[in-house]
Amino acid sequence: MSSRRVVLGISGGIAAYKSCELIRQLRSRGHAVRVVATRNALEFVPVLTLQTLSGHAVRSELFSPGEESQISHIELADWAELVLIAPATAGVLARLALGLADDLLATVCLATRAPLVVAPAMNLNMWEHPATQENLGLLAKRGAHVVEPASGELACGWEGVGRLADLDRILGLVERVLGDRSLEGEVVLVTAGPTVEAVDPVRVLTNRSSGRMGFALAEEAARRGAEVVLVAGPVALSSPPGIERIDVETAAEMRDAVLSELDRSTIVLKAAAVSDFRVTEPTTQKLKREKIARDGQELVLRLVPNPDIVAEVHARRSGQMLVAFAAETESVLEHARAKLERKGCDLIVANDVSRSDLGFDSDRNEVWILGPDAADEVHVPATSKLEVAGRILDRVQELRKRRPE
Ligand code: PMT
Repeated sequence: MSSRRVVLGISGGIAAYKSCELIRQLRSRGHAVRVVATRNALEFVPVLTLQTLSGHAVRSELFSPGEESQISHIELADWAELVLIAPATAGVLARLALGLADDLLATVCLATRAPLVVAPAMNLNMWEHPATQENLGLLAKRGAHVVEPASGELACGWEGVGRLADLDRILGLVERVLGDRSLEGEVVLVTAGPTVEAVDPVRVLTNRSSGRMGFALAEEAARRGAEVVLVAGPVALSSPPGIERIDVETAAEMRDAVLSELDRSTIVLKAAAVSDFRVTEPTTQKLKREKIARDGQELVLRLVPNPDIVAEVHARRSGQMLVAFAAETESVLEHARAKLERKGCDLIVANDVSRSDLGFDSDRNEVWILGPDAADEVHVPATSKLEVAGRILDRVQELRKRRPE
């Protein structure tokens, strides 16, 4: 693993003690670590410990002649290839969201061009407070990578979400952001978003998919070095950098695009919510409500099933890994397992789309990744779609190693 330069920001919460182990693990992966601790963080963990583990002086003050003579805050910001803040308190998130430069850590974050990874840890109520959630949303929108806290017993005595995420999750995201090239040489075909089927020239049948899950997969696969082809239904998202995008509207167009890209693909990820039906004969003129109402009639739409794209890919594939999604509203795992069998894919990613806070049209998702072996089922608790995408690709790569083509 190549050595990279990581600034580790530590802010003042009880989880600060875990940053000692984080420094150790970052260094054992070959990375150089410079610690920037807030004053409050140093109430929880001694400078000497951080200094000994990182092998460098710990920086805390924005204006300290002694510290500045070693390396200035701007040099530190330029030096960093990645800034990781773990734990990130609600206060630090708020300062970063506001763009304040009132202490060394906030100033380094403002001055650096390096990617930012934040691992929040705090009391449940502070985590759930709209201010914290909005600050985090703003940071994510600006490109920060968030490792969401885990659930469990909190140091304050409460039970719930707020514990610093497992160090493995934090380190996994750090490696990914630093540039994991583990998918180099692969061509990943991703479908995303809804499809739309015309009823008349004005009206359509569609669904609530926003495309975010598929776009997150495309972004993560590209970051890991894959060549990515993204077949997208109508969505209001801009393309992640470095990917080839094919825009489609109907299920038939999506099918054609997928099949035409299939031969050169090595991994197919089907996150799109494809319309299962289309109107048998869309009218060429707009349907007039007044006429139907005046005649005392009902409007009856006749629907025919659309092609099952996953099934066609499965029938035609030659060695490609095939991952489908299962959008369920009840008995999620049971229905997903049946779909895995029926559709002949290698993995199926089950998500519960009955929830309003996850799944459809949300930045977050909770999934179960099911494969041939029930013992290998992976549950990914609610987190950002980018992190979910990373976990899905980890699973694809594990399976790939076990079954090389
Ligand atoms: O787009 P977002 O707002 O981010 O939301 C993400 C999501 C909830 C849409 C996504 O995570 C998801 O679950 N996508 C699959 C939705 C779906 O159509 O599920 P399904 O259970 O109906 O279909 C199963 C699989 O068959 C899917 O991989 C689907 O792409 C595929 N399919 C379905 C119908 C069809 N005619 N052809 C297909 O290939």
